[in-house]
Amino acid sequence: RGSASPRRGRGMTDLRFDPGGRLRGELIAPADKSISHRAALLGAISAEPVEVENYLHAADTDATLAAVRRLGAVVETGDRGGGNGRLVIRGVGLRGARECDGPIDVANAGTLMRLLPGWLAGQDGRSWTLDGDASIRRRPVDRIAAPLREMGARLDARDGRFAPFRITGSPLHGITYAMPVASAQVKSCILLAGIAADGETTVTEPAASRDHTERMLRAGGVGVRRDEAGLHVSGGEPFSLHRIRVPGDLSSAAFAIAAAVLVPGSEVIVRNVGVNWTRTGFIRILVRMGATVGGELEPAGAPGGDTEPIEDLEIRHGRLRAAVVEAAEVPLTIDELPLVGLLGCFAEGQTIVRGAGELRLKESDRIATVVEGLRGLGGEIEATVDGFVVTGTGGLRGGRLEAHGDHRLAMMGAVAGLASREGVEVIGMEAAAVSYPGFVGELAGLTG
Ligand code: S3P
Repeated sequence: RGSASPRRGRGMTDLRFDPGGRLRGELIAPADKSISHRAALLGAISAEPVEVENYLHAADTDATLAAVRRLGAVVETGDRGGGNGRLVIRGVGLRGARECDGPIDVANAGTLMRLLPGWLAGQDGRSWTLDGDASIRRRPVDRIAAPLREMGARLDARDGRFAPFRITGSPLHGITYAMPVASAQVKSCILLAGIAADGETTVTEPAASRDHTERMLRAGGVGVRRDEAGLHVSGGEPFSLHRIRVPGDLSSAAFAIAAAVLVPGSEVIVRNVGVNWTRTGFIRILVRMGATVGGELEPAGAPGGDTEPIEDLEIRHGRLRAAVVEAAEVPLTIDELPLVGLLGCFAEGQTIVRGAGELRLKESDRIATVVEGLRGLGGEIEATVDGFVVTGTGGLRGGRLEAHGDHRLAMMGAVAGLASREGVEVIGMEAAAVSYPGFVGELAGLTG
């Protein structure tokens, strides 16, 4: 019979995903990548030891643990902290990061590359260099350098905008900054610099983006408030956290969710999913496309508190119609847009994603790689400057898909394989370990 469990392809890290079985059963959503990065960084900043539950152990977030250790934080894992993502972080405090020999390696992690400088920029008299893999070296840091410089930071980047990125700590002052693009990474960087700066820092963004940093800062006693003028944080407030429980990652769960929607006869429950409304755009799009998703989401526009809501989601296969995704919705579903492209291939009508130029700056140029990838599998999809247009043809033939070292591309390819007519060979499946090391096994578990 056709097999939905992966078979080795030609290379060591090439895997085939064949159609053949409905998805049934339960999945515990893997721990949230964004929130794990923040837990490690804010744990290192906290004046008190922080207990973290359900930390994500994946390449990206392990790079963050390694970074905070090099900066002087003590991270206890294993027997003392326990397995299952339990950690105790004994931080160095807001101004206690120590200098390191040689560059800090952020690996593939854009979130680490953009958030860490916010903390380091205010630490007078010390300097650090951040560097990463080939993908990180292609992704610009000028978006954080501009506001940090306005706050008084001293920074140097290759060609003015790429890693290696050198940060020399200096006294910072609060600013009012209108972000040109909605980016939670940039917003978080400014907020982290803001807590060490003199005076108040105010940020505005053109559309709402994920607000995990704000929630975590509030939980640690820093007053972050939002009004018509923007998001405000005051410098110099003590920050101290005790406990962080990391919810499951909707962006990782989205692959199994999409597979369940696409493969006839499927019915899957995904447990412990973080349903903060700034992350659930994908579920709202799925529902618009006609999918059946059970479970309660945090209401859109909910004023962010200091906790992260979690929920079990129940997903069933269903017929899909096309959807249009506009700019305001893009930051709320940014990492799931490749899957919207995939779903569009199966939906009736034309699925359009607009205002998503940010996709070009992700782990790969995700407009180019999604379009090339889905076309290679028989999809009718065209790139635009800031998105793509997909014409649904009721399915996908299958073929080979190159992951380009991009974890989300690799996982999209796997899902495409299960839903395709002839199967998909994913070239470079190992990229999934950046955010979801257990992906292949867990997907196979659902297909039986
Ligand atoms: C992230 C924010 C998003 C997202 C990335 C993680 C974060 O980036 O694509 O995977 O943790 O803040 P931008 O906010 O820069 O678009």
